[in-house]
Amino acid sequence: MERLVIKNIGLLATPLGNSAQGGKAQGEIQYLTNAWLEAEGGIITAVGTGTVPAAVLAEPNIIDAGGALVTPGLIDAHTHLIFGGWREHELSMKRQGVPYLEILAKGGGILSTVRSTRSATQEELEDKAEEILREMLALGVTTCEAKSGYGLDTETELKQLRAAKSLNKKQPVELVSTFLGAHALPQEYKEDREGYIRLLTEELIPQVAKEGLAEFCDVFCETGVFTAQESETILRAGQAHGLGAKIHADEIDAIGGSTLAGNIGAISAEHLIAADDAGIQAMAKGGTVAVLLPATSLYLGKPYAPARAMIDAGVPVATASDFNPGSCPSFNLQLVMDLACWGYKLTPAEALTAVTLNAAAAIGRAERLGTVEPGKQADLVIWKTDNLDYLFYRFGQNLAKTVIKNGKVC
Ligand code: NIG
Ligand code: FE
Repeated sequence: MERLVIKNIGLLATPLGNSAQGGKAQGEIQYLTNAWLEAEGGIITAVGTGTVPAAVLAEPNIIDAGGALVTPGLIDAHTHLIFGGWREHELSMKRQGVPYLEILAKGGGILSTVRSTRSATQEELEDKAEEILREMLALGVTTCEAKSGYGLDTETELKQLRAAKSLNKKQPVELVSTFLGAHALPQEYKEDREGYIRLLTEELIPQVAKEGLAEFCDVFCETGVFTAQESETILRAGQAHGLGAKIHADEIDAIGGSTLAGNIGAISAEHLIAADDAGIQAMAKGGTVAVLLPATSLYLGKPYAPARAMIDAGVPVATASDFNPGSCPSFNLQLVMDLACWGYKLTPAEALTAVTLNAAAAIGRAERLGTVEPGKQADLVIWKTDNLDYLFYRFGQNLAKTVIKNGKVC
């Protein structure tokens, strides 16, 4: 079995454990200085400090980290990775203050990307996403969630999910798929909301589950999109077919999405800019991870979600890019980490947990990914620095030096 040793690690910084960490624990990570690690068949077998045992050093495949910082590979727990076209033509409108939901109501926004995604072939979608994944990997992202939701019809939703499945076999970044057929009401169903919800719950969700095309089901629960009640119907149908629940909640208005998330035991609630106390308490009770998207706040000129109130209430916070052509055209997770520091005032340690262990938990991967410990997968980043603070200080640069996925240097 292929083995790998990394020696001369100046600082190994990692959260610990197999579950999301909220409250104080989110910032209580392990720091090992002068460390080394060994992996076999893609799994970490030993982590130590000081002199490397001779038996370990006998291994031929040795990387000298040169005193650098090593962390777990970064996990982007919320992206809309697969779509056709871009939407730069909306930029001036947004800068002039036309509200996001108004652009959508006029058939632009998500619906404009739906048109370009419907007209793209699966191969075109894959090629475009593959290029993006290559750049994500260079930034240290080793796992990425990918939502559908730019098809809003059977054929195109399945095309997006099949593209993700195929990409999983073609390139190193591990993709975790979420079915987001409830991203908007397609124009053909403008006068028939119930008909579209029936299409989702009676046709699409069963087919997605049957073909194993997604692990999670998501809904955009927002004013003018789907109500909390409709979201509950859709997410419960997903749960009945074995799809874990995720929800775009309280992005613009608090209409009950985070409360619903907690009540139905959703694995995550995402966005949460407008989350209120009732929603935060419900998430804490329901064991829901809050996936916060600070680059979207930046791009849409919105406030930052109340991350500290969530952490204080014991809700584990993850942060992700929300990469999509409308509200966040950047997939730079290092920038997201920086914004978590500036916008949410997370400490570097809390922000690291947010893009590793808590992000893993938000996509059901915390037992295998998100920390550097024996038994976990060897997904690692060797950084161009010897300390954690530097990552949050030199914002705007790619500071990843070497990225390792499943025990292999990428
Ligand atoms: O998460 N909020 C809903 N969906 C995306 C935006 C999608 C788009 O504008 O294309 C988001 O921000
Ligand atoms: Fe999103």
